[in-house]
Amino acid sequence: MRVPIIAGNWKMNTTVSEAIELVSEMRRKLDEIDDVEKVICPPFISLAVVKELIRGSSIRLGAQNLYFEEKGAYTGEISPLMLADLCEFVIIGHSERRQYFNETGEIVNKKLRAALKIGLKPILCIGEKLEENEAGRTEEVVTEQLESALAGIGSLGGLIIAYEPVWAIGTGKAATGRQVNETIGLIRHNVAQLYDKEVAQQMRILYGGSVTADNIAEFVQQSEIDGALVGGASLKASEFLSIVRQTSEIKGHLSG
Ligand code: 13P
Repeated sequence: MRVPIIAGNWKMNTTVSEAIELVSEMRRKLDEIDDVEKVICPPFISLAVVKELIRGSSIRLGAQNLYFEEKGAYTGEISPLMLADLCEFVIIGHSERRQYFNETGEIVNKKLRAALKIGLKPILCIGEKLEENEAGRTEEVVTEQLESALAGIGSLGGLIIAYEPVWAIGTGKAATGRQVNETIGLIRHNVAQLYDKEVAQQMRILYGGSVTADNIAEFVQQSEIDGALVGGASLKASEFLSIVRQTSEIKGHLSG
């Protein structure tokens, strides 16, 4: 049985004081929800303070990016070594990084290797663009992204995959549960081919793209979908709590 995960990607939102406020607002209630791994990914500058705020709770912490070198003259970058000291998870290869910061498959691969080497749990994001989806190329694009991200990596550690179709991110147009279940099934099949069946069966694969308290049930009802990577809706305490709560109830029910 795979433990579901709901991860909040705050993206480039919240000042340090706003981050403190948001975490304080949800800390106690979030901590009380069982059977779901609850991860929050605030901006780098708030990681240290949030780490202190959630100390002793069941809430886990993640970063949104990292650089692949351990240290040195890379002005402005954050290394795996620095993150390992602060948090447990790191989002890698988000489509916004691929789109605005020219992250190629090769860079994503280097970042994944660096994260795994230091023991961080990567949340690897893959997903097709609208035109690729419309051209019926979803399978091809997702497979290519997965293969280039994982190239030469022997052990996947605690790797988590997030399938985030680019056309569904921040648009209010979420994919359907059935569509996502099918694509995640394909991703799992690919992982089984690249590694083995057991690795694929144990791997948590999430959906991301306009997830809200109103549509989360549609996704977590599906057998292949192990939770969600939530953007906008993770910035509202009550909405994020509702998403986590529904996931706990539905997945708990499904597992009997
Ligand atoms: P939204 O939930 O705002 O669409 O963002 C999804 C996402 O990109 C999470 O990483």
